[in-house]
Amino acid sequence: MVRSLLPLGAALLGAATVLADSPQKCSLTQKCPKEAPCCSQYGECGVGAYCLGGCDPRMSFSLDSCVPEPVCQSKTYKMDSLDRYKDISKYLGDPNEADWVGQGQPLVYNGNVLLTMPPNSVGTVLASTTYMWYGNVKAKLKTSKDRGVVTAFILLSDVKDEIDYEFVGADLSTAQTNYYFQGIPNYDNSVNITDLSDTYNNFHEYEIRWTPDDITWLVDGKVGRIKKRADTWNATSNQWAFPQTPARVQISIWPGGLASNAQGTIDWAGGVIDWNSDEIKKYGYYFATFGEITVECYNASSPPGTNKGVSYYYNDVSATNNTVVDSDKPTVLKSFLATGTDMNKTDGTTTGSATGTASSSVNAIPGGGSTPGGGAQVPGSSNSGSSSSGSSGGSSSNSAPDCATTGFSQSCDSGSGSGGSNPNNAARAIDRTLGASAFAVVIGFAALLLL
Ligand SMILES: *[C@@H]1O[C@H](CO)[C@@H](O)[C@H](O)[C@H]1NC(C)=O
Ligand SMILES: *[C@@H]1O[C@H](CO)[C@@H](O)[C@H](O)[C@H]1NC(C)=O
Ligand SMILES: *[C@@H]1O[C@H](CO)[C@@H](O)[C@H](O)[C@H]1NC(C)=O
Ligand SMILES: *[C@@H]1O[C@H](CO)[C@@H](O)[C@H](O)[C@H]1NC(C)=O
Ligand SMILES: *[C@@H]1O[C@H](CO)[C@@H](O)[C@H](O)[C@H]1NC(C)=O
Repeated sequence: MVRSLLPLGAALLGAATVLADSPQKCSLTQKCPKEAPCCSQYGECGVGAYCLGGCDPRMSFSLDSCVPEPVCQSKTYKMDSLDRYKDISKYLGDPNEADWVGQGQPLVYNGNVLLTMPPNSVGTVLASTTYMWYGNVKAKLKTSKDRGVVTAFILLSDVKDEIDYEFVGADLSTAQTNYYFQGIPNYDNSVNITDLSDTYNNFHEYEIRWTPDDITWLVDGKVGRIKKRADTWNATSNQWAFPQTPARVQISIWPGGLASNAQGTIDWAGGVIDWNSDEIKKYGYYFATFGEITVECYNASSPPGTNKGVSYYYNDVSATNNTVVDSDKPTVLKSFLATGTDMNKTDGTTTGSATGTASSSVNAIPGGGSTPGGGAQVPGSSNSGSSSSGSSGGSSSNSAPDCATTGFSQSCDSGSGSGGSNPNNAARAIDRTLGASAFAVVIGFAALLLL
């Protein structure tokens, strides 16, 4: 049976045509310019959607370039329809209008949401529209399968604190867990939860319980791993290297085994993806199946971990948990030309869609549209210049995905090279880049065109 796909390519081309040149890169050492002040999750500058979910205040023109983050809501998402899903080109920051925002091709099938990855695409990513500042989140899911195909269920903050579950399709009995503090590479944080029964054919419930003092990963209610903040002190930076800032839930499927990826990435993912597999022949795409997802906010009575206001914002670039402010600032942009410091800027149209940016000279929708050839950033890829490299981007639509080409790709990080002489380090470096990628990885869904 082949489940039908929307004519996505056409839609994407439409979006791409209204966008300007490839966006400027941003990083900790290279902030965005005033006219395109917001640094997206993938390390590129723009306005509009660049200033919403994933906008990194540390790398943006100013802390308030990014729009405040909608506050946590305790809620069970049934994942049996896409009524509460919006493509990022249609979302202006009102969590009352959508629970999930994303790119790629989610589908409803049999009462669940499938995240799909058609041949030569970079898959699909969904992110929650609200942010969880500590708390519990659990997802019932069935992973994708086959070599090179990766499924992820993670928490990711705008300053790149990250708590992960990742699954490689070549190993259907293991959940890989990981965490990062502000995206800083650490090669020793990955731990496997093993001996799960066939994660492709069976739903399991994967849970993250996160408090200011520890992270617990549970599968089917059973503790698989605990990480205590007390064990994360970094004496160099004098900080706890522990996730501590409001994070979105992100779920995705992505091609770790894309032939053009770095060998380390491909190996980790279990080999080069076969776009001619039985799975592709049978369904037309790889897919991961998501059932119910539940978020329980942390409910602290004083910060950190409160959720009393409307939104969170950062009041300091250190972006530690004492710099997060629980506020009543609004979260909704008037148009895709607006930014955190000019939220009511209009584009002269009343539509809430990407077409409203037609006359803009800056990029407003990260990813998909910005570079039609863009691909997933793939961790460990050979183009591992750091995100500050400011590389030209704007690759042709035939180019292999790499770190520099698309606003919807993760900023490349330079951590992967530093393995040292211990042979295990190389593998760990790879492992780490991969983990970092969970946030990343995701998608230039326009890479459907990457062929
Ligand atoms: C986790 O399992 C994968 C195989 O699925 C393996 O490649 C990886 O090295 C393991 N990681 C750790 C930290 O044991
Ligand atoms: C500790 O912090 C320093 C400075 O930020 C960083 O370079 C290093 O990678 C960190 N170490 C670990 C193990 O996270
Ligand atoms: C926070 O409060 C809500 C509503 O009372 C509750 O459902 C939820 O379980 C609480 N969260 C935690 C982490 O205790
Ligand atoms: C977060 O804030 C609390 C209270 O200020 C503090 O005790 C805790 O150490 C902080 N956690 C981290 C990971 O920095
Ligand atoms: C933006 O518009 C909203 C109403 O849509 C209004 O409440 C708010 O005060 C305006 N903000 C500014 C800065 O003008």
